[in-house]
Amino acid sequence: MSETTIDAGVQSASSLRVPPAPRAPKFLQGIGYAFFRRQTIGVLAARHGSAFTLRVPVFGNMVVVTDPALAKQVFTASTDDLGNIQPNLSRIFGPGSVFALEGGEHRRRRKLLTPPFHGKAMKNYEFIVEEETLREFAAWPEGEEFETLEPMMRITLNIILRAIFGADGTELETLRRIIPPWVTLGSRLAVLPTPTKNFGKWTPWGRLAAYRDEYNSVVDTLIEQSRRDPAFDDRTDILALLLRSTYEDGTPMSRRDIGDELLTLLAAGHETTASTLAWAFERISRHPGVLADLVAEADTDGNEFRQAVILEVQRNRTVIDFAGRHVLAPVLELGEWRIPKGHSVSVAIGQVHGDAGEFPDPERFDPQRFMGKRPSTFGWIPFGGGTRRCVGAAFANMEMDVVLRTVLRHFTVETTAAPGEKWHSRGIAFTPKKGGRVRLRRRT
Ligand code: HEM
Repeated sequence: MSETTIDAGVQSASSLRVPPAPRAPKFLQGIGYAFFRRQTIGVLAARHGSAFTLRVPVFGNMVVVTDPALAKQVFTASTDDLGNIQPNLSRIFGPGSVFALEGGEHRRRRKLLTPPFHGKAMKNYEFIVEEETLREFAAWPEGEEFETLEPMMRITLNIILRAIFGADGTELETLRRIIPPWVTLGSRLAVLPTPTKNFGKWTPWGRLAAYRDEYNSVVDTLIEQSRRDPAFDDRTDILALLLRSTYEDGTPMSRRDIGDELLTLLAAGHETTASTLAWAFERISRHPGVLADLVAEADTDGNEFRQAVILEVQRNRTVIDFAGRHVLAPVLELGEWRIPKGHSVSVAIGQVHGDAGEFPDPERFDPQRFMGKRPSTFGWIPFGGGTRRCVGAAFANMEMDVVLRTVLRHFTVETTAAPGEKWHSRGIAFTPKKGGRVRLRRRT
């Protein structure tokens, strides 16, 4: 295996040992990463094995790791040695977002964010998920093929809006209107360099700023309404929980931080979950045996098989394919490699999910592999891992479980022999290219 050495200033080049890099010019690597990420990573993993180095615009030198053992090292490294990837989504969400925080500040914020998303709190949200799913049904065409992605986006957005803000109202209408195009635009711009000059409201960056202004004024109103609500102390929505919570030293979250954090939850929480659900429909309509077992179980109180299906959809059709970090230590030891400060390190989640040692015959969609067996902590990582593991993992799992159960109880999903849908990148998340098309009939 060839080896690249990089001069890291204070470190002598010979003390460093970074994984091999492809010979292709930097601009080609950039194009490959930006526009053909899955294919590029697949080809390089086949050529170089468990780690290689890419030169990527915006992120610079990026070490990509593709196997569970190295993923474990990345996720369990000290947060003093490995921080969040730079730049990250806080460019869109703001400096008060958990994505922007490091070390102790990140730990303190996670303590405030965890209670609303703790497994035990999930029961409070189940009825919202069922209601929002039932509400969508009226518009679904009988016996005609349609895309599930779009209704799933609406369902998951409405769910997270209600979970965050409690009651419905005109302000939520504004958020319903601006969040989807804002997230779509933000996901695309998040991986591009930020212009240093403001080119005005007709440019994509100008449009982002306009959405932000509208959002700020809505959130200000909602915070004021919450504080004035006589029932504020009894409210269980996430906004009320955050407004009532304090750090260990007794200080509350600032108004700006709450705004940035709620936006983070709205954006991080809805597209990812909707994309996974669209893949779930795409997968089960192509696997009649799986579908039959799911339908039989949906009429009972059980969910063991449905959970196995969700785990397998997340493995086999991984919607977020990277968890990224940034080397803060002078040198990071990672397996046989010694990586200098300033490099990005990225866990290629999709590649880890394709590890044949962990998942025999990995291309096969087979929920049975999770029946009676919990997924391994560093082999099954759709929610990332370590201290930055997805805050909303339990919430997303509950959502997907209840949405699938509700659909299966009310509709028959028609199976198809059509080939699987191709992957489509929306910037951050991967969705089925045709939107997870299915044909449903109402159950009598
Ligand atoms: C199927 C749905 C979801 C998937 C696949 C997903 C995936 C991920 C991944 C891969 C990360 C990065 C983890 C890391 O760097 O190690 C992440 C972080 C995060 N997710 Fe999710 N997520 C989902 C749903 C949600 C939901 C429902 C919420 C909240 C309502 C949420 C909120 C967050 C937040 C706040 C972070 C940042 C955590 C931090 O930096 O400390 N996600 N998610």
